[in-house]
Amino acid sequence: SIAFLNNAYLPLQEARISPMDRGFLFGDGIYEVIPTHHGKPVGLSAHLKRMANGLAAIEISNPFDASQWQDIVSTLTEQNATALATPYIGIYLHVSRGVEPQRHHAYGQDITPTVFGYGFAMATPPKTKREEVTGLHVALSEDLRWQRCHIKSTSLLGNVMHYQQGVSKGKNETILVNQQGEITEAASCNVFAVINDQIVTPPLDHQLLPGITRQLVIDSLRKEGVIVRERRMTKQELLNAQEVWLTSSSKEITPVLSIDEQVIGEGSPGKVWEKCLDIYNRYKFV
Ligand code: PDD
Repeated sequence: SIAFLNNAYLPLQEARISPMDRGFLFGDGIYEVIPTHHGKPVGLSAHLKRMANGLAAIEISNPFDASQWQDIVSTLTEQNATALATPYIGIYLHVSRGVEPQRHHAYGQDITPTVFGYGFAMATPPKTKREEVTGLHVALSEDLRWQRCHIKSTSLLGNVMHYQQGVSKGKNETILVNQQGEITEAASCNVFAVINDQIVTPPLDHQLLPGITRQLVIDSLRKEGVIVRERRMTKQELLNAQEVWLTSSSKEITPVLSIDEQVIGEGSPGKVWEKCLDIYNRYKFV
């Protein structure tokens, strides 16, 4: 695949960074994953805004403005289209604080950020019909990550360990519960549930990533007059929910059929899910 590294496009295998890059030594950076379908990005301006917010939060000056980022995303999408041979290309963008001569926790103010991007073949979006979609079986675990989960940091060890907890139990993902017994998100997705016929998702705060798919789902449903409540949700409510879904750039909205040993609803993709994915699909490029 074709990559972008510090202002140049090159084959991914030829991209090289220094081991003294703070992204490598400290996970000191911000990243984004932007889905594209048939050359069109989903939620591009929202992804670029979230990246700008993350960079500002950790005091890395944004190396590009929105139109320069848009150019990089569209060039990577075009250049990878033939090589990857799929209409579903993910664009990974990564800005680390850059290279310093010595490893030192404190950072200087005059380092040049390292900018990296590449295109990869994404999973095909979920099938839209209840009979055809493959649902997920997930684990549930105490959220042991840090208190700044709203920042899309490249320091992902906490998420990696939680995701792997699920994988080692033969599950597709891991949903996380905080010390108050409330759901935060999953290791790489946001969580929605249908509880007493209402669509519920945890409110944004430092405990979860403000997912772009989450926001597109909420906005498109509200435009169609469907009520979505952003409120705290307990573990018990989740386990007893009529439906549970995970959202992310690659999964869009995917139904969850079981959580550990607990079957969700009837153990098959739900009617509310089918209706909401249809609405999301009508709005996602708007
Ligand atoms: N994961 N929560 C976490 C912890 C995530 O890492 C992600 C995305 C999401 C969903 O966000 P969005 O809808 O903006 O993709 C929620 C990306 C895709 C990843 O790390 O590969």
